[in-house]
Amino acid sequence: MARPFIITITTLLLVIWMASSVKSAPMSSKPKVILVSMDGFRHDYLSKVNNTPNFDMMLREGVTMPWIRNTFTTLTFPCHFTMVTGLYEESHGIVANNMYDSKTDRNRFRMSTTDDDWWTGHETIWTSAQKAGLKAGVYFWVGSASKIQGTRPERWFPYDGRVPFEARVDTLVKWMSEDDFDLGLIYFNEPDHTGHDSGPEGHATLKEVERMDGILGRLLQKLNDTNLLDTVNIIVTSDHGMAATDSDTKLIDLRDYVNDTLVADVIQQGAMASLIPQEGKASSLLYC
Ligand SMILES: *[C@@H]1O[C@H](CO)[C@@H](O)[C@H](O)[C@H]1NC(C)=O
Ligand SMILES: *[C@@H]1O[C@H](CO)[C@@H](O)[C@H](O)[C@H]1NC(C)=O
Repeated sequence: MARPFIITITTLLLVIWMASSVKSAPMSSKPKVILVSMDGFRHDYLSKVNNTPNFDMMLREGVTMPWIRNTFTTLTFPCHFTMVTGLYEESHGIVANNMYDSKTDRNRFRMSTTDDDWWTGHETIWTSAQKAGLKAGVYFWVGSASKIQGTRPERWFPYDGRVPFEARVDTLVKWMSEDDFDLGLIYFNEPDHTGHDSGPEGHATLKEVERMDGILGRLLQKLNDTNLLDTVNIIVTSDHGMAATDSDTKLIDLRDYVNDTLVADVIQQGAMASLIPQEGKASSLLYC
């Protein structure tokens, strides 16, 4: 409970590569979509590094937004599920990375939780695509390892952050080319991870941004090699940004506000905290 909050975030990256020749393409080359998330990719990272030829190309030939506004709470799980459901967090129900449901008293939700009943009833972009007869594959995304409305994406994997980014790209391109998938989603846990360790201005973080440019380059090149670059619309975006903390002026110690001897458990902390009071103590938890 005494830990400082790690991130406060408002803006993030959005770049779109439009399939340029969709209209003139042969009928068989139906347009496809790839949605790429690079976690914690702050909106201005590209202005802080020089060596990003692939992003530069997308910025030059595609469409970009100076910033976009994400949903609160600005955490990986809620924001990613908003992206694929179009719903605010209170409507899709994934309101934090860690949650507790007092009504059912079922197990706590953690980022590794895939029990279907946390994810019910909210149509995702891949469920919509599959209902429309399209083929969708997801190389990691929040919710993709759970059955939503009874279905999973046609291809999916249990989350494993150790899978090299290159392997994720290569598999996704195979789905789009050899298997003729219409929709592909792919998730990378960087530059978020390095950003948390080194801060948004950190050398290692900016190096990681350059590495992600190389991963984007691999995706573009593989699509080009398989003659798909003109039929795939690529959206590169992120779930949230990253701000440096300052433990002197930006730290709220919740013990100044709640009587921590009455707290049974801390479920989530950060820009938003979630506390469980001891039995019958909810009303005396807050200092007045
Ligand atoms: C795609 O490949 C062609 C032929 O090798 C090349 O001329 C073109 O620059 C490539 N486009 C991209 C975006 O890499
Ligand atoms: C916190 O709660 C404990 C247990 O009820 C109580 O003894 C203590 O006086 C409370 N502290 C304050 C500052 O209210």
